[in-house]
Amino acid sequence: MFSQTNAGIISIGAAVPERVLTNADLEKIVDTSDEWIRNMTGITERRIAAEGEATSDYAIRAARVALERAGLGAQDIDLIILATFTGDTPLPATACLVQEALGHKGTPAFDLAAGCSGWVYALATANAFVTSGTYKHVLVIGADLLTRMTNWTDRGTCILFGDGAGAAVVGPVEPGYGFLAFELGSDGSGANSLMISAGGSRKPCTPEALANHEDKIYMEGREVFKFAVKIQGEACERVLAKVGMKPQDVDLIVPHQANIRIIDSAVQRLGIPPERIFVNLQKYGNTSAASIPLAMEEAWSEGKIKKGDTVVVVGFGAGLTWAAGVMKWAY
Ligand code: ACO
Repeated sequence: MFSQTNAGIISIGAAVPERVLTNADLEKIVDTSDEWIRNMTGITERRIAAEGEATSDYAIRAARVALERAGLGAQDIDLIILATFTGDTPLPATACLVQEALGHKGTPAFDLAAGCSGWVYALATANAFVTSGTYKHVLVIGADLLTRMTNWTDRGTCILFGDGAGAAVVGPVEPGYGFLAFELGSDGSGANSLMISAGGSRKPCTPEALANHEDKIYMEGREVFKFAVKIQGEACERVLAKVGMKPQDVDLIVPHQANIRIIDSAVQRLGIPPERIFVNLQKYGNTSAASIPLAMEEAWSEGKIKKGDTVVVVGFGAGLTWAAGVMKWAY
């Protein structure tokens, strides 16, 4: 056991597929246009995993980068949490495949399902394990191959999604650094507005369900949009209030990369300069649980996150769920 300690992100990594699917490519698949997609979402291209690849392939790659940057081996990791809803198979947990690939037998590993909020839920879970002294280092991965769950005949959703993974090592940090507060929530009354209806215990994947694309993501875009705009700003304000901070005290917000109009609404509501909110959705689209760590890794690589910076992460998605966290960057 370790003594009560501060926990924070001590390294971050990411991995995306090589193949790029542009808006022009989508024009050949559904009745849409590059102009509509850019104006309505801000997305210009997204990455698509190759045939035969699976979510664990990208989770493992991102995890290896994070481990190397932390100067740690698989034997130093006490717990693996993988936020995903597109695991390689329904059973077992894909986190166990990550454990096996990293090569240290016995490390506990589990998947966490909270849609696009999943990685922030996983950070909060890791924080609880590290600050309680239960574990020292937790590997927190967000990985999704959303294009495997995409209905390519639905122009309202197929333009949004992409594939990727991000991973962080959460561990002990100096006093005054690391996670300061989290704000997690859910509202199951909105469950039907963003769901995959077939393939679970309620409804098996019958030939009829497959023909109706019920094994793919269904979304009431406008409902989810309204929810997202409201909850994104509220969750940021609530998590900051927990530590007596205001949006103006934040150096960088790393939001879920769903839609530029949703991100712009946060800029308006919180009254912050646009450069204080990080955006890379133009390149990757919505990668669900991977979206925030993928953006955070890029912001850190570009020098936009430095030691001592106050950083907010905020996600929202299927459930409906939301999650925000505020931290003092520790390295
Ligand atoms: N190309 C051209 N036209 C389109 C397209 C398209 N790809 N998609 C929809 N349209 C049309 C519609 O048919 C509709 O036409 P109509 O007025 O003639 O009926 C019109 O555009 C408006 O459609 P809406 O769906 O009402 O458009 P909206 O302004 O809501 O934008 C969008 C759609 C971009 C999907 C938006 O609703 C959105 O971003 N929603 C939130 C998605 C999100 O953030 N999800 C997060 C969680 S995802 C997760 O957890 C996996």
